[in-house]
Order: sequence, then C-alpha cells, then structure tokens
Amino acid sequence: MHNLEINGQRLWDSLMEMAKIGATEKGGVRRLALTDVDREARDLFVRWCEDAGCAVSVDAMGNIFARRPGRDDSAPPVMAGSHLDSQPTGGKFDGAYGVLAALEVVRTLNDAAYETSAPIEVAAWTNEEGSRFAPAMIGSGTFAGIFGLDYAHRCADPDGLTLGAELQRIGYKGDGCGGRPVGAYFEAHIEQGPILEAEEKTIGVVTGAQAQRWYEITLTGQESHAGPTPMEVRRDALLGAAAVVQAVNRIGHEFQPGACATVGMLEVLPNSRNVIPGQVFLTVDFRHPDDGRLAAMDKALRRADDEAAAAAGLEMEFKQIWQCAATPFDTACVDAVRAAAKASDFSHRDIISGAGHDAVYMATVTPTAMIFVPCEGGISHNEIENATPEDLTAGCQVLLGAVLAKDG
Ligand code: HGY
Ligand code: MN
Ligand code: MN
Repeated sequence: MHNLEINGQRLWDSLMEMAKIGATEKGGVRRLALTDVDREARDLFVRWCEDAGCAVSVDAMGNIFARRPGRDDSAPPVMAGSHLDSQPTGGKFDGAYGVLAALEVVRTLNDAAYETSAPIEVAAWTNEEGSRFAPAMIGSGTFAGIFGLDYAHRCADPDGLTLGAELQRIGYKGDGCGGRPVGAYFEAHIEQGPILEAEEKTIGVVTGAQAQRWYEITLTGQESHAGPTPMEVRRDALLGAAAVVQAVNRIGHEFQPGACATVGMLEVLPNSRNVIPGQVFLTVDFRHPDDGRLAAMDKALRRADDEAAAAAGLEMEFKQIWQCAATPFDTACVDAVRAAAKASDFSHRDIISGAGHDAVYMATVTPTAMIFVPCEGGISHNEIENATPEDLTAGCQVLLGAVLAKDG
C-alpha cells in the first residue's frame, strides 16, 4: 500500500477554475461539446497536463490523453478520466470532477517523484453527455470500437453542424481512435442520485451501470386554423404526443423497481398559438438495470405509441437511435476501489450507476471500475449541482489507491 495523499485544496481550486469556463448564473456550467467554450476548457486542461509534465495527444474523436511515463513505457497505461462537456444547464462537477481528479493523481505522483511501473494516462472524452450530438459517450464509444469513426464524425447537432466539422473548427481533430491496449480504466464521478447522501456514505463502489435506450419519435397530423376547424376533424399532433408522454411515464412506473422513463425534448411545429400543431418531435430515454425488462419496456412503448398515433389520426416515425446494455464492471478493479476506500477508512457501499458514463464503453475493452461520491440532494444535470470538498477529496484519494493497485 502507498502512503501518498492527494492535495484536496489543489483539486478544489482546479475544479473552481474550470467551472469559470461556461459559468452560468445559478452556479452551473454550459459547456456543450465542441463549442468554443468546450475548446476553452480543453485548452486549459491541456495546459495543466503539460505543466504536470505529461505528453498530450488528441485522437480523431478529439479525445485528449495526457500521458505520464512509467518505468516500463511499453506497458499498457493505467487510465483514469471522464468528460469536460456538460448539459446546457449542467453542473460544475459532472465530468470535470473525474478529469481533474485523475489530473490530481498525476500531480500527487509528481510531488512524491513516485515512479509507476506502467504509464498513467488522464483521459478527457468527447461528447459524453449526448446533449449536443446524439448518442451519448460517442468519444469513448468510438475509442472502444462501438461506433465507426465515419458514423461518429457524421453525427449532426440540431443546426446540422457535424461532429467531425466541429472537431476541425475547434482544432481538436487528431488521428486514429482506439485500437491500442489499456491496462485498466477508472472514473471518479458524483453519484447524480440520492443514495450515498441518504445513507451518509462517502464512497460508492460502482459495480456496474444500468442499460439504456434512446428514441426519437415524430408525430405528423395536419396544421390548420385553431378557429374554424371543428374538433371532430382535427389531426392534432400535440394531442398524440401528449398521449405518448403519458404512456412513457406509465411504463416507467409499471416496470418498477428499477425503471426510469423520461421525455426530455419536445418540439411543436409550427408552435403558434392559433395553429393546430401539424408535427411534434420528442425524445424518450428509457433505463433499467435488467436488459430483459428494458426490452419489455420497449415493446410496451411501441404498442402505446401506435395506439396514440391511431387515436389522433397521425402518422408516426419511431426510431430507436441508441442502446447500451447493462454493464458489469471488472471484479478486480471493483475490489481495488473497495480496498482503497477501506484503506482510508471511508464509509462506502456498492452501487449500480443510474447514469451512463465513459466507463461503460471502456469496460468493453479493458478492466474498468468507477468511484462515486455524494452530490447534494442527489441533484445533477442542474446548475445547482453541488458536492463537498471533503467528499471530492475522498473520491480522489480512492482513485489514487485504485490506480496504484492496478499499476502494482
Ligand atoms: O445520460 C447519461 O446518463 C449521461 O449523463 N450521459
Ligand atoms: Mn457525467
Ligand atoms: Mn451528465
């Protein structure tokens, strides 16, 4: 076991410095992937990594890797990281914590002139949130070979700007993506849910992540005048969409325990107060710890949507745009996280991640585990997202222990 201690104040200061980039009024951040604000965050991160003596590389998906050499530089690196992009009204810890905690591990090793046997790499993955470009985790997913590079580069944002063009524009389009060995991957993250805080546990030993599916649904009826058009002849797309929203929520409750069901986006066309909506676009986010139950939710959704469209006389385009299976993390890595929590006497409990993370895709190519710390009220994907310096420090200390255990 090592006796190194991370510098919690330095970690906190770096988090607050990073949080200034894209800072929003209510104390959160707006750092959508591959915007100029994201580039600013990336540039700051690269500068800090170079100051820490790391060799920085960028791959064809804009994933950033900061490499600290080890005794055996030919060995596959032990990697740790997360993402710098955020939700439109995101928090200052989601993603940035995992990236800067990994950098703090490097800074701590530097302070102690500690030589690891394998190289250590800090990773910042592109477009983890899936907010500007869908699907989510596309940077780590392409690195892991889940998505092809061409497909990923062609993904477009709502204004039709492609991920590839935006990478070029901000100067973060490197060469190659993935296809290289990684010794192990760890990711520190706030829980983004209420369990650790409610149970007064400092560390979540994350044993895996739940399954998820994303859908895009377009309902088409007929625009017409809100005044002279009799009720019985209308083909109101919003009426059908309202039935779909109700069905999504009902299915979420029907598949308890475990299911989560959300309509996050809804666009009404032409969105004018005296025109009957002709078209509605909406998204559905389904999650469940069990793949089989998620498949049953999928079936229930398709049936309910067919009924909603028929009842309102609408055409419907129903697309599942992404799915990610339930992912168990590597037992040895999970044990390393648990042992590191125990070594520092941090209260801890095993937990399944409700959110998707880059670790989910990294788990398909290398032994992987995650470390959770509590967030205030379990709130995340919200500008008021908050965490305490003590918990963030504890999570980073566990990250250091797990990384060194896997390096050992
Ligand atoms: O959607 C998620 O779970 C993650 O925040 N991308
Ligand atoms: Mn995240
Ligand atoms: Mn997130």
